[in-house]
Amino acid sequence: MNDSPQRVLSGIQPSGTKHLGNYFGALKQHLALQDEVPGECFYFIADYHALTTLRDADKLRQSVVELARTYLALGLDPDKALLFRQSDVPEVTELMWLLSSVTGMGLLERAHGYKDKVAKGIKPNIGLFSYPVLMAADILIYQSTLVPVGKDQVQHVEMAQDIATHFNQAFCPADPVLVRPEARLSATPYVTGTDGQKMSTSYGNTIPVFASGKKLKKLLGRIVTDSTPLGEPLATDGCNVFALTKLFVTGDELDRIASYYEAGKREGEPFGYGHAKVLLGELIERSFAPARARLETYEAHPELVEEVLVKSALRARDEARRTFERCKRACGLI
Ligand code: ADP
Ligand code: TRP
Repeated sequence: MNDSPQRVLSGIQPSGTKHLGNYFGALKQHLALQDEVPGECFYFIADYHALTTLRDADKLRQSVVELARTYLALGLDPDKALLFRQSDVPEVTELMWLLSSVTGMGLLERAHGYKDKVAKGIKPNIGLFSYPVLMAADILIYQSTLVPVGKDQVQHVEMAQDIATHFNQAFCPADPVLVRPEARLSATPYVTGTDGQKMSTSYGNTIPVFASGKKLKKLLGRIVTDSTPLGEPLATDGCNVFALTKLFVTGDELDRIASYYEAGKREGEPFGYGHAKVLLGELIERSFAPARARLETYEAHPELVEEVLVKSALRARDEARRTFERCKRACGLI
């Protein structure tokens, strides 16, 4: 990472309890960047994007607060990163209109995200179709340079690059207002679920970040394995339990665990998939124990969460207003 100041920005939808795929594919990188980059990180909860598919007001309200708590519990530091509701910055939707006016239908028709959702049977609405334009407004309004996202969102960031260029060329070629953002993939852009497919809320194969005790044990019990008998060597390649284990340990500790698989034994005793799952459960519990304790504090004090959301939104809005005013001027609206 070079030393020039970066404006890091990312959004995450408030859709349900966050799972290991969300953590290793997105949240972990967001949290790491607050210490890695010189400059401020902007993270927001994409409640407007969620409305394209969600029809339950109470659920949306709850999910927004749950996601904010999750970020704070996992280590978001409000002194280094903002955490706000997308809808608290109305200039974003206003900018979206300006950007819509320079965005070709063809560009949006090529969006994989849109095509995938329609293929899944979601009835398309205009919001779903223009989702990438709202996302471009999210990114461009804060002059973002670096956008950490999962693989599925890279095309949307590329669309934001195109939309920025179209806007600048159309309205301000001599003095471009919008900055070209770059996507950044996490080190683990693809986490498998209990069935070996991509871990996803919509596939019912997730392990929530804060699952523990009996519930966690039950979920781990569902991880699909082959039928190698107890005491025989277990393959690490292609093993769903080992793939998840690798997310939590590295170096000598990982080598030691791999040696149990390869021998089918641990300290002379048989080691099978049941034991491997217990070990994985211990690693998950250990890894998230401090965050789980912080989560309880935020659950008991929702006002602390709200304070971060409100303060962050004020700061974000300040930044958004500046870009939006320049955009309006460039278009001849001021
Ligand atoms: P879900 O599929 O559970 O609905 P989202 O689509 O809301 O998850 O994803 C939120 C973020 O987490 C995105 O940045 C996405 O790329 C990342 N993500 C989701 N599932 C995974 C996974 N299995 N592996 C890696 N990253 C993931
Ligand atoms: N579409 C993203 C997702 O579903 C969330 C999002 C909305 C986003 N606006 C963004 C991500 C801007 C990065 C930048 O995961």
